[in-house]
Amino acid sequence: MKLILKAFIMSIQFITNKNGLEYPLALIHLMAFPEHDQWQVKDFKQLLALPYYHVCLYSNSENCLQGFLLYVQILKEAEIITFAVDPICQNQGVGKNILKQFLKRMEQESVKKVFLEVAEENKKAYYLYNFFHFQIHTIRKSYYGKNKNAFLMIKNI
Ligand SMILES: CC(C)(COP(=O)(O)OP(=O)(O)OC[C@H]1O[C@@H](n2cnc3c(N)ncnc32)[C@H](O)[C@@H]1OP(=O)(O)O)[C@@H](O)C(=O)NCCC(=O)NCCS
Repeated sequence: MKLILKAFIMSIQFITNKNGLEYPLALIHLMAFPEHDQWQVKDFKQLLALPYYHVCLYSNSENCLQGFLLYVQILKEAEIITFAVDPICQNQGVGKNILKQFLKRMEQESVKKVFLEVAEENKKAYYLYNFFHFQIHTIRKSYYGKNKNAFLMIKNI
């Protein structure tokens, strides 16, 4: 029953009109990421203006944004640029749902390879990517600062 309800009240949207989205995305990013990793409204505005950048939004039944995934899709490859869930909605399956719907969409669009970078210390995000069968391709040493490694992860669809 709980699962049925969850599926019913959530809504995933792949957005074509990105106008004005920089504000809600920056807000969620600000709340979800530690201070040194936060992106500003102007950062999102710049990225959203680029043609290959796309957004997947996750909202509840009141149309309140709970999370998003920003990605680039060019021909048969896609890259996850950033992905965040409002902290008060975390650990309730929102992130898993966004990734699931995103990967489904990529499959429909005949994308063959999805890749991303994730901090080695970001255990939860790593767990999720691993759950969806992303594999570590390369370890980028000190990518996020001294001794802060990143994993380049890839999933072939
Ligand atoms: C990463 C993030 C998007 C996940 O969203 P979420 O809604 O909390 O994720 P979910 O609730 O769908 O799933 C969390 C899973 O991680 C597991 N988990 C939670 N904490 C964990 C930890 N410290 N180590 C490993 N796994 C963990 C949970 O058990 C759950 O798995 P399960 O459903 O199989 O039990 C969210 O935490 C976030 O916005 N984090 C900050 C920004 C970020 O790191 N983004 C990713 C950048 S690459």
